[in-house]
Amino acid sequence: MIKGEAGVAFIGSGSAQVETVLSNDMLSQMVETSDEWISTRTGIRQRHLASMNESLAELAAQAAQAAIAAANLAPDDIDLIILATSTPDDLFGTACQVQAAIGANRAVAFDLTAACSGFVFGIVTAAQFIRTGTYQNVVVIGADLLSRWVDWQDRTTCVLFGDGAGAVVMQACDRDRLLGFEMHSDGSMNGCLSLAYQPESNALIDGVASQQGTFKTITMNGREVYRFAVSRVPEVLEKTLFHAGLAAEDIDWLILHQANQRILDAVAKRLKLPNDRVVSNMAKHGNTSAASIPIALDEWVRTGNVKPGHKIAISGFGAGLTWGAALLEWGL
Ligand code: UT7
Repeated sequence: MIKGEAGVAFIGSGSAQVETVLSNDMLSQMVETSDEWISTRTGIRQRHLASMNESLAELAAQAAQAAIAAANLAPDDIDLIILATSTPDDLFGTACQVQAAIGANRAVAFDLTAACSGFVFGIVTAAQFIRTGTYQNVVVIGADLLSRWVDWQDRTTCVLFGDGAGAVVMQACDRDRLLGFEMHSDGSMNGCLSLAYQPESNALIDGVASQQGTFKTITMNGREVYRFAVSRVPEVLEKTLFHAGLAAEDIDWLILHQANQRILDAVAKRLKLPNDRVVSNMAKHGNTSAASIPIALDEWVRTGNVKPGHKIAISGFGAGLTWGAALLEWGL
């Protein structure tokens, strides 16, 4: 390592949940579906939904506070907050509200949008600031309230998503524990999964109109996205492992974006990883977008499954389309 450069350590995790639970049986009272269909096709049994008095900023702040406490740091130690989200409370960004809520007075804060890949892209972005010696302590949060944007009449999407937030603290250290990463985008497939702005004309004066629309609801070609995930995710993980000089059997835990249990099973099979090394919590949470990897990571850390020195492969994939992977070693 040369002067001015640092390694990256992952030293604390946190997560936060909203209270309201919507089970598959409850959903089947709303649309033509069943617990049997949802659980066998996706592995999801329930999801959490934010109520009227819960905000993304609040949830993200709770996750960040828990991660900072787990890292034995104080909010004033934090130099940078990256909030990966596609569902901000404010289109100008929500990270600054999180900064104020947790009292991280010295930190600069900004949002990063890369849908379900947001957390992976967030930690890679944070690592650049740490490796160049610019910042010491960075909080990366993945938080989404996709329930705000779901079409609750569309059974092909409304059964999938839930709300939540998770976070990690990354710190400068001598030995780099970010062992490898890969990130990709393919905008030509953007239409497969989107939450697009829909403009409406607003006449201002004769001959001049502005657009004054809104975002509508999530649309997804599930089969296309499924095909994309089961081919790209193993590929990006294999490349990441190759560049790190490691093999799949060196991984203690594989934490994929929790989109579908069948995707997790297919990726594990392709990597020849036993199922007991594959982290899955989607039965409880559904697909929480940018939050799914850090929530799963935090649950595995807090239950003592993840131990210092464990190697964890993470991979996010989704709208954009975007996908990426990172290989990290937990703890100092
Ligand atoms: O977070 C971003 C990344 N997202 C993903 O990775 C999602 C990837 N896609 C998937 O996970 C799956 O494609 C889904 C879970 C979305 C759908 O599962 P599938 O096995 O691909 O189902 P399908 O779309 O092929 O639909 C099979 C049948 C259809 O009926 P027909 O045409 O065979 O008569 C659907 O209309 O299942 C029907 N169907 C449902 N039935 C009961 C679709 N949704 C439902 C439902 N309940 N909720």
